[in-house]
Amino acid sequence: ETKLDTVKTLFGKHFSSSSLNNDSAERLEDVIPVTTAIAVAPGRVNLIGEHTDYTGGFVLPFAIDYSTVVYGKGSIVVHDTNDERKAFISFVSAMSPDSLEIAEISESSTPPEIPSWTTYVEGTVFQYLPDLPKGAELRLEFCIAGDVPLGSGLSSSASLEVAVARFVEAIIGENAFSSEQQDGGDFSPSKVRALRCQKAENEWCDSPCGIMDQAIISAATGGSLLLIDCRVLDFTPTKMANESLHSDDPFPVLVVANSNVKHSIGGGEYPIRVAQCKTATEALQKVDPNILMLRDATLEDVENAKEYMDDVICKRARHVITENERTIQAKEELERGDWKQVGELMNASHSSMRDDYEVSCEEVDILVDIAQNFSGVYGSRLTGGGFGGCTVTLVDEERAIDLMEHMKTEYKTRTGTDCPCFVTRPARGAHLLSL
Ligand code: ADP
Ligand code: GAL
Repeated sequence: ETKLDTVKTLFGKHFSSSSLNNDSAERLEDVIPVTTAIAVAPGRVNLIGEHTDYTGGFVLPFAIDYSTVVYGKGSIVVHDTNDERKAFISFVSAMSPDSLEIAEISESSTPPEIPSWTTYVEGTVFQYLPDLPKGAELRLEFCIAGDVPLGSGLSSSASLEVAVARFVEAIIGENAFSSEQQDGGDFSPSKVRALRCQKAENEWCDSPCGIMDQAIISAATGGSLLLIDCRVLDFTPTKMANESLHSDDPFPVLVVANSNVKHSIGGGEYPIRVAQCKTATEALQKVDPNILMLRDATLEDVENAKEYMDDVICKRARHVITENERTIQAKEELERGDWKQVGELMNASHSSMRDDYEVSCEEVDILVDIAQNFSGVYGSRLTGGGFGGCTVTLVDEERAIDLMEHMKTEYKTRTGTDCPCFVTRPARGAHLLSL
C-alpha cells in the first residue's frame, strides 16, 4: 500500500518528537489516551445525474479505487470547562512533504478570506468541535497522501474532506456526532459526515457545491452505485445486473478518461449555474407555488412559465428536469442489464450538459465524440462539474483496452494533449484501516 507507506514515512519525519502529549503528565486525568488511526476516502465518478444535486434532484455516482489516506494521532485535553472548544492541528500533505502546516481553530473561528488547500482540512475539523466536551482541546497530528487526480472532476477535494472527517471521528470516538444526537438530528454517521463536509466546503472553501460528492464518498458500499435523492439525502444502492438483458449485448465496464484540461472559467460558472437554477425555480413558482425545488417541475411547467424566464434560464431548467428523468431511468436500466438504454441516456445527458446547461468544453466534447464513435461503446459523457475534467464511458469489457488506446492516440492527435484513462468499478466509501 504505497499511500500508506508514504503517510507513515512522513509521520516519522515530522512527528517523531511529537508535541501531542508533552504536557500529559500535568493533566493526566484530563487526557484521553492518544489514539492512532488511518482513514481512507475514495474519489468518485458520477454515472449520470449531473448538476441536479443542488436543486434536490437525483444523482447516480459511485466511488472509485483512487483515494486519500489520512494517518496520524490525536488526543483530547480538557483544561477549563469554561473555555471555548478548540483544535490544534499539525498536518502535512505528501503534495508538499516538507511543509508542516499548523492551525489553531476554535468555535468562534471564521473562514479565511482566501481559502487554500489547508482550508478543506480546517473547515472539516471545525465541524466536529461541537462534539467535544466543554472546554476541550482536540490535538491532531496527521499526514495525508492521495492519488485522486486533483482538479479533474473526480472529487479530490471531497475525498480529502471525508478522509479528514473519518479520521477525526476515530479520534473523538464514541462522542463523535454527540452534538447531533442531542439535537435529535439524523444519527446516520455517513449522512451526517457528508453534510458536515459539504458545509465545510460551502462555508469555509467558498464553493456552493451540492451534496453528491461528499455523500457518495462517505456512504458508498463496495460493488454498488448509489441512487441519491438529494432532497432528503436518501441512498438506494444500485448494482449493475450480472448479465445482459439482451444476450447479444456484451457485458460492459466503466472507463474514465481525463481530458487533462480545467478551464479557469469553470470556477466562476458553477455559482452562476446555481443562481440560474434559483431564478428558474422562482419563475416556476409563479405558475405553481407547489414547486419548491427544480426537482418538482416538469417540462410542461417550464412551457407555462416561459413568460417569466429568458431562453438561457429555460435551457438550464430543461437540463435539470430531463436529467432527473434520465437518472431514474438509468438506475432501472442498469439493474435490468439493458446497456444500450443506459448508453443512450448517458449520450443524451452529455448533449444536454453541452447544449442546455453549457458546462462542457471543446476538449471534453472531442473525448466524448471519440468514445461515442468507437465500436463496443454503449454511451459516453462528461462526469462532474464540467469545463474540463473527466468523461465516463460504458463499453464492452473486451473492447475497453482498445478503446483506451484509441482515445489516447486520437485525443492527442486532435488536441495535442495526453488523456490518462482507467477502467473502474464501484469501490468502497470512507473507512478506517486497522493499524
Ligand atoms: P476536484 O475536487 O475535482 O479534484 P477541486 O479543484 O475542487 O477539484 O479540488 C482540488 C483541490 O483539493 C486541490 O487543488 C487541493 O487544494 C485539494 N486537495 C485534494 N487532495 C489533496 C491532497 N492529498 N493534499 C492536499 N490538497 C489536496
Ligand atoms: C461538482 C459538485 C457537485 C455536483 C457536480 C455536478 O463539482 O461538487 O455537488 O453539483 O459538480 O453534478
